[in-house]
Amino acid sequence: MAATVIDGKASAARLRAKIADDVKSSSTKPGLAVVLVGADPASEVYVRNKEKAVLEVGMNSFAHHLPATTSEAELLTLIDSLNADARVHGILVQLPLPNGIDAQKVLERIDPRKDVDGFHPVNAGKLAVGQDGLVPCTPIGCMILLRETLGDLKGLNAVVVGRSNIVGKPIAQLLLQADCTVTITHSKTKDLAGVCAQADIVIAAIGKPEFIKGAWIKKGATVIDVGINRITCDGKTKLVGDVAYDEALQNAGAITPVPGGVGPMTIACLLANTLKAAKK
Ligand code: GUN
Repeated sequence: MAATVIDGKASAARLRAKIADDVKSSSTKPGLAVVLVGADPASEVYVRNKEKAVLEVGMNSFAHHLPATTSEAELLTLIDSLNADARVHGILVQLPLPNGIDAQKVLERIDPRKDVDGFHPVNAGKLAVGQDGLVPCTPIGCMILLRETLGDLKGLNAVVVGRSNIVGKPIAQLLLQADCTVTITHSKTKDLAGVCAQADIVIAAIGKPEFIKGAWIKKGATVIDVGINRITCDGKTKLVGDVAYDEALQNAGAITPVPGGVGPMTIACLLANTLKAAKK
């Protein structure tokens, strides 16, 4: 039987509607500052979508679009002013940053209480030790989709493919908190196909188009595809995930599509984090 297709768009719409209700009844209007440096076309699209979503749920959006020639010192000065601005509850610096700017230094300058991406070492540390902090948006979105699909995740074998600070490491922490048995794999893992074949849950976050083959997926497993890769096929460009989707549909019990799976959840969870930061 072909897999159930997990509808991330519908789930994200439900979450956004809840957030919009909450914003209406809250005494302070949450505000998100989005900082974009340079003109990377993919980043421009992501940032535009984020700013639009912020306005749609009734929050304030503070857009800072800076030229690629912006120096690290100028960017740090902007972060300082956003940290001090009481109207700004969340700060997001879109990655990647242009060459010559130390992204880690910039991320560490953000007040951890306003770090709605959850990338600051203070928030990464809180996640690792199970304290309440701001958690990266894409991993939260993946967990919501998993819980909606499977309910309790206790005891399930989860294989995470990819070890980035943005997705792989934080989602491994969340899966552990949910009592999964977690394996983190990466480009140097031996017999990745064999490891994936043991998984009840596969999280694909390696950033390589259609890298994970359908034959690697155990019958009935749940597949969450975090990848967003633009490829050219028959002269046309299209978006594909990190999983060979058509093949995986034959084995998986449930799978997220690309687009329309994890992507919309990331933005909805960014709004949720901004609301959380504003309430604190
Ligand atoms: N670039 C790719 N993904 C992300 C993300 O989740 N947050 C930020 N700030 N930049 C990104």
